[in-house]
Amino acid sequence: MKKILQLNSSSQHISKTRKLSDLWIDQLFDKGDVVVQRDLTGLPIINGDWMVANYTPDNELTVEQHRILELSNQLIEEVQSVDILVIGAPVYNFGIPVALKAWIDLIARAKKTFRYTEEGSEGLLMNKKVYVIYASGGTPMGADYEFVTPYLRHILSFLGLTDIQFIDGNNNQLPELNQLKSVS
Ligand SMILES: Cc1cc2nc3c(=O)[nH]c(=O)nc-3n(C[C@H](O)[C@H](O)[C@H](O)COP(=O)(O)O)c2cc1C
Repeated sequence: MKKILQLNSSSQHISKTRKLSDLWIDQLFDKGDVVVQRDLTGLPIINGDWMVANYTPDNELTVEQHRILELSNQLIEEVQSVDILVIGAPVYNFGIPVALKAWIDLIARAKKTFRYTEEGSEGLLMNKKVYVIYASGGTPMGADYEFVTPYLRHILSFLGLTDIQFIDGNNNQLPELNQLKSVS
């Protein structure tokens, strides 16, 4: 039994990455698997109070600081609890959508998802497969002005998520995806 986390970050009602992620998960899915869906749109942006709470030792946190970190803790536990992540990554203004960046900012926490050792940084989210579903209105995946895949490869690897496969939603790699040609 596998546990799959589906992360959607599209701001559009008719979303190519959502449809492609659904189809990708249909392919992966075996009887008994569990899919957890998380819509990242509307996630809060980290602010000063959040930063202070994040840098406060766990045993010194106030009740209010516990509350401030609650969502971040929940999102981290959600990632820790799954075997596979399927991340919808639309290209917005040549980078990732703000919703996906908000999620990354909320889960990238020292001593929880990464740490620094004498040898350098070490990611703590390990042994998970990541599929990133890429879609754009024309920016080819891998173009030198495309900042979605290099950024995601770097930050996910930094967090320990090194087993990443990028699926180019513009270049339908699955026969089933052809039906989505009309969705842009
Ligand atoms: C705010 C916004 C910015 C976009 N910026 C780009 C861009 O820089 N390059 C590009 O090729 N397509 C761009 N697009 C088109 C989207 O990448 C395209 O619609 C893709 O299907 C997005 O995935 P989604 O349908 O899941 O939202 C943009 C779309 C939106 C809504």
